[in-house]
Amino acid sequence: MKALVLAGGTGSRLRPITHTSAKQLVPVANKPVLFYGIEALVAAGITELGIVTGDTAAEIEATVGDGSRFGARVTYLPQERPAGLAHAVLIAREWLGNDDFVMYLGDNFVVGGITELVDAFRAERPDAGIMLTKVGDPSAFGVAELDGSGRVVRLEEKPAEPRSDLALVGVYLFSPAVHEAVRAIRPSGRGELEITDAIQWLLDHGHAVTPTVIDGYWKDTGNVTDMLEVNRSVLEGMEPARLGDVDADSELIGRVRVEAGARVERSRIVGPVVIGSGSVVADSYIGPSTSVDSSCVIIGSELEFSIVLSGSRIEHAGRIEGSLIGRGVRVTGAQRAPRAHRLVLGDHSHVQITS
Ligand code: TTP
Repeated sequence: MKALVLAGGTGSRLRPITHTSAKQLVPVANKPVLFYGIEALVAAGITELGIVTGDTAAEIEATVGDGSRFGARVTYLPQERPAGLAHAVLIAREWLGNDDFVMYLGDNFVVGGITELVDAFRAERPDAGIMLTKVGDPSAFGVAELDGSGRVVRLEEKPAEPRSDLALVGVYLFSPAVHEAVRAIRPSGRGELEITDAIQWLLDHGHAVTPTVIDGYWKDTGNVTDMLEVNRSVLEGMEPARLGDVDADSELIGRVRVEAGARVERSRIVGPVVIGSGSVVADSYIGPSTSVDSSCVIIGSELEFSIVLSGSRIEHAGRIEGSLIGRGVRVTGAQRAPRAHRLVLGDHSHVQITS
């Protein structure tokens, strides 16, 4: 069995982060979200990975490499434009050959892994295995309608009037029958070849599609709110450690991980929190559910429920909450009058100010 990992796409919901880097590489507890997916696949015994890439191919390849660090073998499959999830299957046709495969969306996060699902598929060999979970806002997802005996009857992509609250999780299993389906379907109203249409085609042509409803935790990290929520959940299970320097005037409470080479001075850190290597936190408060990546500087500020990517500097900035801060960003307080907001923001930035 192989795995097709989707790491291309547009990433419009995570702009401006995705103007300069891949959304699949945004760190969750200081580790790229894509790595959790790759680890889940390897844990399920799948080591032949085809990674579909788009504009951010160079960064994905540089970060994931040949896959040997995960015990996997990676082949890169460039997709000319993000023409849909089923389009990714279409372009991977030759690499997939006649193997069964898992299609894994590189920005999705499934707690508890996928081993059970993969084992069940291997045992039953349907033509498609889909994973479903109950969500509050089904119209934002691919939605499955089941009949009284739990069989899939219909799939719809982001329906205006959803027929159920069961959303498709970003992990799909396929037999080679899917290749005929992705060739047969036409682009949807939004111009994409939809995987939901391909699975509907399989249903309509008498192929077995097996649903598994999971209660476990799943998130599509394609937007900031979900990204912060996944970060919160992963930090809650993180091993605390004090590998860097923490001075006597600092206080670490709860699950706090200070990586080697990090420095904490005259600060209060309330976990779960991770401070990356080479970062400095001084005269600050870092509150729960916060990840500070490597080589950051945080001085005289308060930070909570946030993710800060590497090389950023936050100085005398007051209190920051619920934020995703990119790489090499500078946020500084206005020390002198006028106490005005001075902003240099990239395209599609999002700022909420309190004044
Ligand atoms: P999405 O998050 O559905 O799409 P997107 O990346 O275009 O994001 P947005 O809606 O914010 O613009 O994609 C799910 C995953 O699949 C994600 O990791 C990107 C990847 N993908 C591809 O590799 N190729 C594609 O053609 C598409 C649509 C997505």
